[in-house]
Amino acid sequence: MSRIVGIDLGTSTSEIAFLKDGKPFVIPNHLGEYITPSVVGLSDDGRVIVGKEARDQLLLKPDDTVIEVKRLMGMGGTVSMGGKEYTPQQISSFILSYLVDCAGKYLGEDINRAVITVPAYFSDTQRRATVEAGSLAGIKVERIINEPTAAALDYGLEHMWECQNILIYDLGGGTLDVTVLEMFEGVLDVKASSGNNQLGGKDFDQRLMDYLLNRFTTQYNVNVSEDKRALMRLKEAVEKCKIALSQQEEYHLLIPFFANAEGNPVSLEETVTRDTFEGLIKELIDSTEKQINTAFSDAHLNASDIDLILLVGGSTRIPYVQHFIEKTLGKAPQSLVDPDLAVVRGAAIQAAILNEQLTAEKDIIITDVCPYTLGISVLDYVGGFPITDAYDVIIPRNVTIPVVKEKIYGTVADNQTQVEINVYQGEFKKASHNNFLGKFLLKDIPPAPASQEKINVSFAYDVNGILQVEGQIVSLGKKANLIIETSGVEMVKEIDTEGWAKVPNARKFKAIIRKAERMLENEEVRYYALEVESLVRKIKTGLVQGEKLETLDEFKEELHEIIYELTEETDV
Ligand SMILES: Nc1ncnc2c1ncn2[C@@H]1O[C@H](COP(=O)(O)OP(=O)(O)OP(=O)(O)O)[C@@H](O)[C@H]1O
Ligand SMILES: [Mg+2]
Repeated sequence: MSRIVGIDLGTSTSEIAFLKDGKPFVIPNHLGEYITPSVVGLSDDGRVIVGKEARDQLLLKPDDTVIEVKRLMGMGGTVSMGGKEYTPQQISSFILSYLVDCAGKYLGEDINRAVITVPAYFSDTQRRATVEAGSLAGIKVERIINEPTAAALDYGLEHMWECQNILIYDLGGGTLDVTVLEMFEGVLDVKASSGNNQLGGKDFDQRLMDYLLNRFTTQYNVNVSEDKRALMRLKEAVEKCKIALSQQEEYHLLIPFFANAEGNPVSLEETVTRDTFEGLIKELIDSTEKQINTAFSDAHLNASDIDLILLVGGSTRIPYVQHFIEKTLGKAPQSLVDPDLAVVRGAAIQAAILNEQLTAEKDIIITDVCPYTLGISVLDYVGGFPITDAYDVIIPRNVTIPVVKEKIYGTVADNQTQVEINVYQGEFKKASHNNFLGKFLLKDIPPAPASQEKINVSFAYDVNGILQVEGQIVSLGKKANLIIETSGVEMVKEIDTEGWAKVPNARKFKAIIRKAERMLENEEVRYYALEVESLVRKIKTGLVQGEKLETLDEFKEELHEIIYELTEETDV
C-alpha cells in the first residue's frame, strides 16, 4: 500500500506534507515553494495550471482563472473558467492533483492516499464535497480532520506530556475556527469547536476594496463595478496593502491607469493607515468573540482556565487580531506554531498515525467532536396541540466522535404505511430553520393504530465528520438508509441590515431585538448565544428584504421562548 500524506486544502493557499524521521516535513512544489496559492487557471494552450502560474495570470485573464473556490464547496453552484462551467469539487481536484503530483515526484513514488483538513465548522455537505474532490483527483481520502485539531497535533507532538487547556484561534483566508482542547499524557481531547465558514482574510480585503472604490467613485464619478480586470487589480493591491499594514503603520497604494474618467486614464492613489484599516475590519474581528464564548460554554471552561492560546492562519498576523485576543482572553497568544504550516504538519501527523508510523500507545491520541447539532423533523405535541416541523435533536453538538445515537419514534396516524425522515444540521428549534441535509422514505409499515408501530432512527457520525442515517421499522426489522445529496445546503448569506429599524413593520420587533441584543452584550444568553444572534439577524434581514410577517413572527416567537427560558432560569 502506498504512503498516506497530509494535505491542507486552504481558501488562499494549500500545502502537502509527510512524516520524515518522526517529524512533519512540508513537501515543496515544482517551483521549490512550500506554499501553493489555491488558484486554478487555463493557460493559453488550454492546459489546466495551478498555483503561482495561475495566480500570475489572474490580472491578465480573470475569466480563465479561479480563486478562493473553497468557500463554494458544497454550496451546489458552479464556477466558470474559460467559458466552461466547473463544480467547486472539480476545481479543488485540480489543486489536489497538482500537490500530489509534486509530492510524488519529490518522493519518487506514487501518491494516491491522503488525509485532508477542513475547517472544524465545515458542514457535512462541505466535507462530502472535499472527499469528492479527492476522488476526482484519483486520491483516496483516508481521513478528513479538522484544521484546528491538526494544528494542535503539530504542537502536541513536541509537548505531549504536558497538561494544559489550549484555545486555538484559526483565522485564514475564508474561515474562522475556534477550538478548545485539553492536552494530557499524550491525549489531545477536543472539548468544543465553533466557527464561521464565511469569515476570513478575503472579507478584510473586501472591506478595504469597498472603502477605496467608494472614495474613488466620489472623486472621479466613475463606476468600475462592472470592470472585472480593474476589480482584480484592486483586489491584489488591497491584499498587499493589508499584509504590509501588519508590519508598518501606513501604506501607499497606487494603481496606475485604474479607470477612464471622461476619456482620460486616472490612477487610484491612496495612503492607507493601519488605523483606517483597523477601523474597517474591527467589527468583523470583534464579532468573533461570540464564537469564542460559544466554544467556552460548550467546553464548560472559562478564559481563566486556558493555559495556552495558539494562533493559526495567515490573518492572525494582523496586529489588531492579536490585540483583540489578548483583550478578550486576558492572556497574550503565543507563537509556538507556524501559522501557515501548522495545519498541514498536523495532517502529516494524522497520516503517519494511519500509516502506523506513530502509535496511540507510544505517541499521540486525538479525540474530536461533532461541531453541529444533528436531528430530524418530527410532529410534536405541546399542551395537546400538534406542532409540525419541530426539530428533534439526535446528536447534540460538541459530543466526542465517532458517535452513534438512536431514538425510537411512533407513527402519527392510524394505518400509516410510510414515514419520511428529514435530516437537518443546526441549532434552531424549528427544523426548517436549520440546514437541510436530506431525506428518505421508509415504506411498507404494517397498518396499525397510531403510535403502535415504532421506527428506530439511528445517526452515525464518523471520525471524518460524515453522517450516516438509518431508519428501521422495528416490527419488521426492515431498514432504509439516507444517501445525503451533496448539493443544496443553504448557508447564511450576509446581508446589510443597517436600515432594519426604518422598515414600516419594524416597530413590532424593536423591543424584543433590543432585549436580545442587550442580553447578548451582557453575556446573559450563555449557550443560546448562536441561536439568539442568528434569530436577531434573521428578523433584521427579513425586515430589510420584505419577508412575510408570518415568518418574522415565528422567529420572534422563538426568540421570545429562549429569552423567557433564560430569565426563568436566572430568576430561580
Ligand atoms: N502578514 C499578514 N497580514 C495580514 N493578513 C495576512 C498576512 N499574511 C497572510 N495574510 C492573509 O491570510 C489569508 C491566508 O491565510 P491562510 O493561508 O492561513 O488561509 P487558508 O488556509 O488559505 O484559508 P482557510 O484556512 O480559511 O481555508 C489571506 O487572506 C492573506 O491575505
Ligand atoms: Mg487554513
